[in-house]
Amino acid sequence: MRAWTLTSSGLTLSPSHPLPVSLPASTSVPFSATSSISTAPGTTATQPTPTLTGNNLLIHITHASLNPVDLHILRLFPSWLPFRRNPTPGFDFCGRVVGVGPGVSSAGDGEFQVGDVVAGALGVGDVFWGKGSLAEYLVVDGGLVGKVPNSWKTTGREGEEVKGEEAVGPFGIAGQTAVLMTQAAGVPDQEWKGKRVLVNGASGGVGSILVQILKGRGAEVWGTTGSQEGEDLVKKCGGVVINYKTHAPVTEYLAQLFGTEEGAEEGKLDYIFDCAGSQPLYTHSPSYLKPKGKFISIVGGASQGVVPYVRNKLRPVWLGGTPREFELLLLLPGSKTVREVGRLIEEGVITRGWVDGGRVWEMEELVEAYRRLASGRAKGKVVVRVSKEEEEEEEE
Ligand SMILES: NC(=O)c1ccc[n+]([C@@H]2O[C@H](COP(=O)([O-])OP(=O)(O)OC[C@H]3O[C@@H](n4cnc5c(N)ncnc54)[C@H](OP(=O)(O)O)[C@@H]3O)[C@@H](O)[C@H]2O)c1
Repeated sequence: MRAWTLTSSGLTLSPSHPLPVSLPASTSVPFSATSSISTAPGTTATQPTPTLTGNNLLIHITHASLNPVDLHILRLFPSWLPFRRNPTPGFDFCGRVVGVGPGVSSAGDGEFQVGDVVAGALGVGDVFWGKGSLAEYLVVDGGLVGKVPNSWKTTGREGEEVKGEEAVGPFGIAGQTAVLMTQAAGVPDQEWKGKRVLVNGASGGVGSILVQILKGRGAEVWGTTGSQEGEDLVKKCGGVVINYKTHAPVTEYLAQLFGTEEGAEEGKLDYIFDCAGSQPLYTHSPSYLKPKGKFISIVGGASQGVVPYVRNKLRPVWLGGTPREFELLLLLPGSKTVREVGRLIEEGVITRGWVDGGRVWEMEELVEAYRRLASGRAKGKVVVRVSKEEEEEEEE
């Protein structure tokens, strides 16, 4: 099979065994990568079909999507770690089940059969040991996998097929994180109606799905972005745009927009979901977040969460802390979040998976795709086509 493998970490791009299409030379990508190519499992003796055990599924991957955490791992884990010899990058996957382990019953709700289209994100442990989704075949624990619904339930899209490129982001790290953030707010589904919420970083992978979920549940949603494409996307997801460049500093603008006279709190926000990592947004939040409101962040920054946790969660108000509840989340992909994504698509709450620029990158273009992700400007998800469905190959 074809798979990308990493042979070194650092700032230099050194494709010593490039995939068939040549890659543009550049030194600005924060990792180096090489590819290894062999043939599909089962077709040669050198790559035998793995024996599936327990609850595992063998999946023919069609799409992978990229996440900022991929870049963190590339930067943090040196290539010489003995247990990470030539690891494959990537968490998110979508594809078709081609084999099931003996522990997977083919009957009953939530179980899998050969032929099912599924998606999800690998566990942190999997990726730590070198497994990755940028490979044509992958063995994954069934608990990390959700079934992709056949069609969208969104108004105007009913009956339209849920394609792999749109499913991979919502079922992957981004969509599962968006689900985790709404769960952390602790609001029952039916009680979101009328809640006033702000999503900071609304046009990114996480934000674009989070805005859809909150809007779909009936909340009034504002979303920040700093670009025209971002504005278009936030509107399409159902949010009201706040352009942080037009309204700089955005904290002052928020205070004007949501701030009320002393004692009158109705106009303020109930929740702020921070997908961009802004300390001033939290520090100034008493001006626009209700006293019982909650600030929920997913960005740990360079300290991997230690600094914001100590400064915002542990520091008491009398020592200069901000008098608003702060939560910093870390997603561990799992069945609770991945299956919730399937339910939200079935209910028409998640209405689509946004692919950055409408462009699916080919496997050979992975380095360019990572460069786009590393720019921090992606709108929706950066998606890579790992392999074609068998029918597509036959048509060609
Ligand atoms: N804790 C966890 O478990 C967890 C899970 C997933 C992600 N994360 C973290 O969450 C963050 C977002 O992830 P992602 O996948 O959504 O990233 P992403 O897709 O790369 O986000 C890119 C988007 O961020 C927007 N953006 C950048 N700076 C902004 C700012 N100051 N204000 C508002 N928007 C801004 C950009 O919009 P403009 O170009 O319009 O500014 C762009 O559309 C990352 O730091 C990631 O590491 C954490």
